[in-house]
Amino acid sequence: MVSTSTQIAGFLFDNCLMNAAGVACMTKEELAEVKDSAAGTFVTKTATLEFRQGNPEPRYQDVPLGSINSMGLPNNGLDYYLDYLLELQESEPNRTFFLSLVGMSPEETHTILKKVQASDFKGITELNLSCPNVPGKPQIAYDFETTEKILSEVFAYFKKPLGIKLPPYFDIVHFDQAAEIFNKYPLKFVNCVNSIGNGLYIEDESVVIRPKNGFGGIGGQYIKPTALANVHAFYQRLKPEIQIIGTGGVLTGRDAFEHILCGASMVQVGTTLHKEGVVAFERITAELKTIMEEKGYESLEDFRGKLKYIEG
Ligand code: SIN
Repeated sequence: MVSTSTQIAGFLFDNCLMNAAGVACMTKEELAEVKDSAAGTFVTKTATLEFRQGNPEPRYQDVPLGSINSMGLPNNGLDYYLDYLLELQESEPNRTFFLSLVGMSPEETHTILKKVQASDFKGITELNLSCPNVPGKPQIAYDFETTEKILSEVFAYFKKPLGIKLPPYFDIVHFDQAAEIFNKYPLKFVNCVNSIGNGLYIEDESVVIRPKNGFGGIGGQYIKPTALANVHAFYQRLKPEIQIIGTGGVLTGRDAFEHILCGASMVQVGTTLHKEGVVAFERITAELKTIMEEKGYESLEDFRGKLKYIEG
């Protein structure tokens, strides 16, 4: 009997696939659709303290090999998502869901996390250190000093399960430096990767999204090799208590299989979910199970992290 069940932070999920923050997660209705699909759980749109309109439209475009977006963190504000999660804790006590959040400043991040800490929320929190799309706000996790300061301050008061969403890194030295910081803290997971920031997609003679003159985060097929490299680099470097969530370029069961082979304990689907809708979860799960059956694997543990190298 093949199972794609998994655990993150000690919570059990009956499937290792879920949405990536930003797709199908802005409203309660969208979240409920993911919850009631074949996905194992959901993550909310990254919440800021207050409602945000985000960047002007058009700000998300599906393209043949993926997507480009510059959403600018539109969201309904922390209370909207937290209230829904607290409701679900009552109505579905056996399931665990993820709350994504970040402040527009380190101070706001602390205000939000303190609210979550003081609440009855029993789920998992994902701190988004990687949004590339808010004009004037750099991707936090590219600044190691700021990242370390935030983490050291956060863990002084935040005692609930917490992980971080990371941007892709592209240099071995950066993997080493980032892992050295993350290993100092009781993080439950790192999520690799957010979109590859600030790409340009051109049709005829024009960009395809309005914000930032067309610069936006790239997702989909373009980014799978980078996503896999980040998943595996952190799997090799992080202490075993810090799990990896793999995100980026998951179109098929084979893509999910590769993320797990690189070390992922959970796999998120973004661009494909946007293109195909929640039926994608059923299809990708069936494809992943077929691969596992063919290889004689019964659970994710049978192949997680067991990427083979060419020796000699
Ligand atoms: C956005 O809202 O701009 C996308 C979210 C992200 O990349 O973190």
